Amino acid sequence: MGMVTTAIIGCAGYTGQETLDRVLAHPGLKAVALGSNSQAGKPPWALDPSLAGHDLPSFVTNDQALASGAELIFLCLGHDESVAVDLPADAVVVDLSGGHRLQDASLYEQWYGWKHPHPERLSNWAYSVPELQPPTGRLVSNPGCYASAAIYALAPLVGAIDPASVVIDAKSGMTGAGKSLKASSHAGFVLDNCSAYKVGSHQHAPEIGQLVGFPVCFVPHLLPIRRGLLATVYARATESGLRERLEQAYAAAPAVRVLPAGVNPELARVQHTDMAEIALFEDRATGRTIVCCAIDNLGKGAAGNAIQNANLALGLEQTLGLRLTGVTV
Ligand SMILES: NC(=O)c1ccc[n+]([C@@H]2O[C@H](COP(=O)([O-])OP(=O)(O)OC[C@H]3O[C@@H](n4cnc5c(N)ncnc54)[C@H](OP(=O)(O)O)[C@@H]3O)[C@@H](O)[C@H]2O)c1
Repeated sequence: MGMVTTAIIGCAGYTGQETLDRVLAHPGLKAVALGSNSQAGKPPWALDPSLAGHDLPSFVTNDQALASGAELIFLCLGHDESVAVDLPADAVVVDLSGGHRLQDASLYEQWYGWKHPHPERLSNWAYSVPELQPPTGRLVSNPGCYASAAIYALAPLVGAIDPASVVIDAKSGMTGAGKSLKASSHAGFVLDNCSAYKVGSHQHAPEIGQLVGFPVCFVPHLLPIRRGLLATVYARATESGLRERLEQAYAAAPAVRVLPAGVNPELARVQHTDMAEIALFEDRATGRTIVCCAIDNLGKGAAGNAIQNANLALGLEQTLGLRLTGVTV
């Protein structure tokens, strides 16, 4: 098989840069178009000096990159931009935004605060979690960062826990908010701080609920670090054997590791990688089951799963291009 020609749309954002880095490490993908409205006309090294020396084209506008004829397209845009894009008819497309994740269009008004402009298109997209619900067609909706961590911890336990007991508490580094500056990502606000936000109203709650089949109580927090995301899921078991369920679900998964009993999850082992780590505990005081999942929000929570989903959609070995090892120092 020849190299799969690849375009990245919105390449100058955090997830765009991370996706490009994995495309460069991928033996079967060739970047033929780098779309960026802010960088159009500039060489790649103008954005990142470490890109000098790579065989890459200069940035073009997002529309030009979409029209490049690439066989594989990564949409690394904001939700509202992503839903407005006119896609070529035959490419495999992986959308990293939330614009095509929810099947019920009315949920966009409720949780994203805007009316979806193309509700009729939603059913063409498959919400795809590589290990649990792999892509089924050429339009792949990549999971959100918080949703990924929560789903990895929770989905295998469905049927053996009380849905009404589920609470998800999660914390993310500040790159989760994207590159554009906001008051809430200003260093003066973030450093030496930890804040809860969108309490009870974060858009990843319905995304998680859609996959597990029941509504979840979810609270995100902003950590004063660059990258990494830790989700802690609390639930009451209705059956025994929850650890076995997790181990079985991920026995053949190269990018999800269930930690041995007693090993604590931590971000340092997953930062800059595309690996998820899951740890299960029993609460001595209440008997509740506690499952933690640590990922890198830009890795397994975005570009890592996007590449893994693309590999699966293209029939390639799923780990190609992924970063699966890191060093804790
Ligand atoms: N960040 C995460 O951890 C994460 C995880 C999962 C999913 N997502 C989703 O992925 C999508 C993209 O997220 P993101 O984090 O990559 O957003 P981002 O860094 O804000 O980038 C989004 C777009 O904004 C433009 N942009 C904004 N600020 C810029 C700057 N200072 N310099 C250059 N370009 C800038 C770029 O467009 P041009 O290149 O066209 O100029 C870029 O494609 C979003 O829908 C997000 O919800 C993000």
